[in-house]
This record gives sequence, structure tokens and C-alpha cells, in this order.
Amino acid sequence: PQRIAISTGGGDAPGLNAVIRAVVVAAAQRGWECYGIREGFNGILQADRYPVDGVFRLSTEMVRDISHLGGTILGTTNHGNPLRYAMRMPDGSMQEVDRSGEIVSHLKALGIDALICVGGDGTLTIAHALHLKGLRVIGVPKTIDNDLDKTFTTFGFDTAVAFATECVDRLHSTAASHQRIMVVEVMGRYAGWIALHGGIAGNAHAILIPEIDYDLKQVAAKIMQRDATGQHYSIVMVAEGAVAAHGAHALQEAAGVGSVERLGGIAERVAQELQELTGKEARAVVLGHLLRGGSPTAFDRVSALRFGAAAVRALDQGYSGIMVALAFPNVNYVALEEVAGRMKGVPLDGDTLQTARDLGISFGDEES
Ligand code: F6P
Repeated sequence: PQRIAISTGGGDAPGLNAVIRAVVVAAAQRGWECYGIREGFNGILQADRYPVDGVFRLSTEMVRDISHLGGTILGTTNHGNPLRYAMRMPDGSMQEVDRSGEIVSHLKALGIDALICVGGDGTLTIAHALHLKGLRVIGVPKTIDNDLDKTFTTFGFDTAVAFATECVDRLHSTAASHQRIMVVEVMGRYAGWIALHGGIAGNAHAILIPEIDYDLKQVAAKIMQRDATGQHYSIVMVAEGAVAAHGAHALQEAAGVGSVERLGGIAERVAQELQELTGKEARAVVLGHLLRGGSPTAFDRVSALRFGAAAVRALDQGYSGIMVALAFPNVNYVALEEVAGRMKGVPLDGDTLQTARDLGISFGDEES
């Protein structure tokens, strides 16, 4: 290609700007021009918001020194999925319309024949649809939750885990001073990766994740057992998606994909119930969007730069309809159709989970 575009969609993740920088610089090295699309695809679909610069030239100067910055200079959105774009009909009713064809024709009219789509499951599903409509498309996986299949990990996850760990470290001393239970809620809509890794690294005493149906009585038993040995405080990590009613079914539900229903509030409910069950004072702390902000760790920067450069190489090699992925030690390519709609939960027989159990961490599913 001579002209390529890049778009970032879905929740932001530390490392997005590093991907953008790698794409722009690697493209420039090949003599290609790079264009940025604003806020997912809204730069094209919402012409009223962006009459002139919804798609704009990204020069190498514009991406200088941005790899360490959180967020995305292109902007992003969870709304305006082109495959199901809510539009008001002449009779006043709202209907979902497939507007993906407009994206292909708009880009082609600008002389852009290839697109790098950075995003999670929803964005990669859109990427696949655009590829089927004749645009050359390469996907780059993005999720702080680490729930995308076919890639070992993605940028943003390490940063989120590092921050969660720092927060848990800080909570130990205040929890111990007050002999309290601290319930820490982290993101993780369908999968408990951040809770698991942050909980192990931060020495949590219990971890609740969507993949495991838990019983808070087991967690209370663990807390009382600690109490009996003179450890009068406990830290409980909970993934926002670990709603008992969802339990083990959350991942199957996720296969339906694209739900933007707001979660949250689970920590408060867990804290109240544990307070009742143990008679100990409990407090809830919600880390939420703090996990998505800030500067990416060195690991995430390197992963993001590798993904961006690999996406450009893939275009150079003539690929389309693939996602770059991390298959240690290298980046490889997987077909987008194998990725869309597939989520990756914490494997119940994996050694990380087993390590947590060997360390005595409760998952609320122990035999009583
Ligand atoms: O998918 C990433 C994620 O951070 C989820 O863990 C969380 O449920 C969701 O995004 C929150 O999205 P929003 O930014 O719309 O609140």
C-alpha cells in the first residue's frame, strides 16, 4: 500500500500510543503515508462532529515521544459500532444499520487501501467485516483484561497488574492497623486475570474471579482462620465480573460479545456480606478506570511497539484479515475469523491458579 489508516476502538489501554507511533514510523520507513481515524470510526461515521479532520494525516512529528503516554491520541469510543449503528429512521424509530461499507468507500476515496485496527473483541469483529468487504485489514489486539484468545497477552495488562499490585501493597498496612477486611475491586468483565495476577503479586488472601463459582462462606472461613492465628486482617481481590450469579457462565455469555452494560459495585456487596459473616469491619475499594490510565510499563511499551511494527510488516508482506499476536518468544499472525467472539478466561488447570492455591489463597470454592 501507499497510504494506510489506523483506528483505535473500545476501552483505552496503556500502550495504544506506542502502537500508533510504531505504525507511523514503520510506515514512513517504507515511504507510505499514514492517516489516523478519530474515535474508533466516528471520524468517518459522524461527519457532523468532524467535518474536516475525521481522518487526518499522521506525520512522524505528531507521534514523536508519545510511546510513554496513556490513552490514545486518536481518541476511542465504546459506541458507534459500524456493524450495528443506531440510526433514527424517517418515522422517528431507532434502528441498527450496518454502515461498514461507508468506511471502506470513504477510505478508498481518500486513496487509503489498508487499515490497522487496534482494539478488543468488538473492534476485531469490525476489522474482520471490513476485510470481507475488500479493505486490507490487520488487527492489533488490545485489552487490559487479557481476555483475548489467540495471543498470550496484550499491552495494557501488565500496566494494570502493576498498578493493582501497588494498590494492594498499600492496603496491607491500613488493613492490618485497623484489623479490617479490605475488598479490592479490579476490572475484568469476563475474566479474572488482573485479579489473579494482582492478587498473587500483592499477597491477597482471597481472590474472586468470574471463572470460579465461589461461596463467600469459604472466604469468611479463611479470614477467621487467619484471625485465629493472630492475623487480624485480610485482603480480598475481586474481579468486577465475579458476580456469583454470572459465575462460570460469564465466559459463555461473553461469546455473545459487545455488551457495554456497566458492571461494578461487586466489592461493596462482598464487603457487606463478609462483614456479616465474620463480624469484622470491612471496606471496599474500587480501582476501576485507574487501571486503564497512566504510563505503560516497559513490557507493555515493548509489546505495543512490536505489535505496531508487526502490523506494518504484515501489510508489507501482503497479508489481510489477520491479527498480530504474541506467541512467546515471537509475534505471529492469526486469522481474524479465529479471534472474533472468542474470549480467554483464566485456565482452571493452569499453574498460575495452582500457585495461588499452593500459597493458601482462597478462591471461595474450597471443600468445607
Ligand atoms: O474491557 C475493558 C474494560 O476495562 C472492562 O474491564 C470494563 O468492564 C470496561 O472496560 C469498562 O468500560 P467503560 O470504560 O465503558 O466503563
